[in-house]
Amino acid sequence: VQTDIPSLKDRVPFTVGAAFYRGATLGEHAKLITKHYESVTPGNSLKWDATEPAEGTFTFADGDYLVDWATAEGLEFRGHTLVWHSQTPDWVFEGATKEILLQRMENHIRAVMGRYKGRIGTWDVVNEVIDENRPDGLRRSPWFEIAGLDYIRTAFRVAREVDPDATLVINDYNTEFPRKRQALYDLVKKLRAEGVPIDAVGHQLHVNVEQPPTSFIEDTIEKFAGLGVEQQVTELDVSVYTDFVTSYDTVPAEILALQGHRYREIFDVFRRQADHLSSVTIWGVADDATWLSSFPITRTNPPLPFDDELQAKPAYWGIADPG
Ligand code: XIL
Repeated sequence: VQTDIPSLKDRVPFTVGAAFYRGATLGEHAKLITKHYESVTPGNSLKWDATEPAEGTFTFADGDYLVDWATAEGLEFRGHTLVWHSQTPDWVFEGATKEILLQRMENHIRAVMGRYKGRIGTWDVVNEVIDENRPDGLRRSPWFEIAGLDYIRTAFRVAREVDPDATLVINDYNTEFPRKRQALYDLVKKLRAEGVPIDAVGHQLHVNVEQPPTSFIEDTIEKFAGLGVEQQVTELDVSVYTDFVTSYDTVPAEILALQGHRYREIFDVFRRQADHLSSVTIWGVADDATWLSSFPITRTNPPLPFDDELQAKPAYWGIADPG
């Protein structure tokens, strides 16, 4: 990895981190992580399908490996994620009454959070619970269909009990868009008023080289700041594709430059809003390992600050050098 470039952590006034994966890429990525980042989030290793594939059978090998490594390196650790509709085994919902489902959820949270108590300082307790196209703004996941809003209330209350020092996050995507923003805002306001221990709102921020307008991001941060809730950017990446351009044989240099410009604009917003943002996490280390090369379709999509040879791209310079 390049040693003659500034560490990103020295260039921003908030904690900056990256998502990482246990596996072939970690060896090389480890050097980039320790040079540039202060926080890590496992891309998959702490999800339900990875940690409790069968009821009561817990598999912590990957989680332990990553938490041990990060702790030894002095990195903060974001736990992702306890309750989600995706990457969750079918058994969780099978034959479940509300009572059974909430008990399975409580057992899971106690086991996973409990194992890493004191070492994982922040948890995405629930992920992607909003559906702004519903009148009540709530996603019709199996969680909601079976347990209603109580699954969210219970998840946060149990999480607080297991580790009272952990920062508890409600995490979602597209929160920069006005209707989703409002639906999440209404839910967080209502639940906090009830005493549900939601400490922070996580904005995933999967964006592309053209969308959303940067002002939307700033409006979202300002709106939630008004609630007095902590905020984090949890999964930033900048796809090179738009509604109109959906494939390239080779991504043109001018598109990578445009991506660098987007990173700069976005980090300019984060710097202005630094009082309201405790951390910013980029969803991956380098372009050789990104979910966007297979989602929503398989294609070359380099959305990160470092290329697949781990060299700094215009996106890196967009972060390192303010506008
Ligand atoms: C993605 C991982 O990066 C992929 O490796 C996996 O195949 C699918 O999930 N929102 C989230 C993350 O909250 O958990 C997702 O991570 C990306 C979208």
